[in-house]
Amino acid sequence: MRIVIGADHAGVGYKRDLAEGLRRTGHEVRDIGTHDAAPCDYPDFAAEAGRLVAHGEADRGVLICGTGVGMAVSANKIPGVRAASVSEPVTAALARAHNDANIVCIGARIVGPEVAAAIIHTFITTPFSQGERHERRLAKIETLDRARTSGA
Ligand code: RB5
Repeated sequence: MRIVIGADHAGVGYKRDLAEGLRRTGHEVRDIGTHDAAPCDYPDFAAEAGRLVAHGEADRGVLICGTGVGMAVSANKIPGVRAASVSEPVTAALARAHNDANIVCIGARIVGPEVAAAIIHTFITTPFSQGERHERRLAKIETLDRARTSGA
C-alpha cells in the first residue's frame, strides 16, 4: 500500500520508527517530514498529506502530532479527506469499517509506540464495510464537502 506519513516536531522520532516498521512490512512509504525537532506547524503537514490522499497519490495517510487532534482538524479541511484521531485499535477498525477513514492521526504524547503500530496495522488492513447505511452517511459527508467548497 502507498502510505504518506507526516508529523510535527512533537512526533518526529515516533514517525521515523513507524515509517521504518511500515517499510519493513512491504509498504511504500512517503515521508513528508518534519525531519528534525525544530518547532513547526502541523497544518502544513496535514495539508500536504491530505492532498496526496485526496488526489489518489497515496492510499492512506498517517499523521502524528502531540495529541493527534491538530492533525485531524487540519486534514479534514481538505475535501475528500476523512481523518480520524485514534488512540486504540478498536476505533481504528471502526473508522475504516464505518467511516472509510483515509487518514489516521495519532498523538505521540498520548499513545505509546507499540499501540501506535497496532493502530496503524489495523487501519491499513481493515476494509470499508460498504454497508448501505455507511454509504448513505458518507454521501452526506461528501455533500458537506461540496457545500463548503462552493461557499453554500
Ligand atoms: C505542538 O506543541 C502541539 O500543540 C501539537 O503537536 C499538537 O498536539 C496539536 O494538536
